[in-house]
Amino acid sequence: MIAEKESGLVQKGLNMKNEMEVIFDAVSNNESFARMAVAAFISSMNPTLEELADVKTAVSEAVTNAIIHGYENYYGYGRHGELQPYFTTTHPGKVRVYCRLEKGILYVDVEDKGKGIEDLSKAMEPLFTTKPELERSGMGFAFMEAFMDDLEVESVVGEGTCVHMKKKLGNGAWIDRED
Ligand SMILES: Nc1ncnc2c1ncn2[C@@H]1O[C@H](COP(=O)(O)OP(=O)(O)OP(=O)(O)O)[C@@H](O)[C@H]1O
Ligand SMILES: [Mg+2]
Repeated sequence: MIAEKESGLVQKGLNMKNEMEVIFDAVSNNESFARMAVAAFISSMNPTLEELADVKTAVSEAVTNAIIHGYENYYGYGRHGELQPYFTTTHPGKVRVYCRLEKGILYVDVEDKGKGIEDLSKAMEPLFTTKPELERSGMGFAFMEAFMDDLEVESVVGEGTCVHMKKKLGNGAWIDRED
């Protein structure tokens, strides 16, 4: 027990497996919910502020994509801060966010059952967007790639898209570094 207590691995919970899953309506209001849910889930790992910001940004980008591209639900994503673009429609649909913490690594899947991506390698190129009318900049996948350690995307036209991301969380809070 003492040996276990002294091991930093046990103290930080690094050897524990922990999973969570949330499924929510594909509407813009739920984007911040998803970001906060993942941030709360990883808080037991004492992530640095930078790690936390990176994960929140990557989750936001993937969830936004599921809502506006997967299901084409544009409410809340109008131009110049307008809530409702003139072509707004709302399609029913759910986004699933699954997270697993294992050996200090965060695995996140963001999945939709929307329209899917026709040309995945083109979609993942920086600055490529199919929604310039919504003032999208085509940088979502580039940010996910930059802020996480690994990114893989699976997509089938007419069936949906699943974004798999991984990030090592291990620096811990400054107070832990003393031991
Ligand atoms: N879940 C998805 N379902 C369908 N198409 C998607 C999905 N995610 C991304 N795409 C396609 O990939 C393109 C690139 O996505 P990316 O996130 O890089 O840029 P964007 O969303 O267009 O712009 P930004 O993220 O900078 O606002 C999108 O324009 C869209 O065509
Ligand atoms: Mg995007």
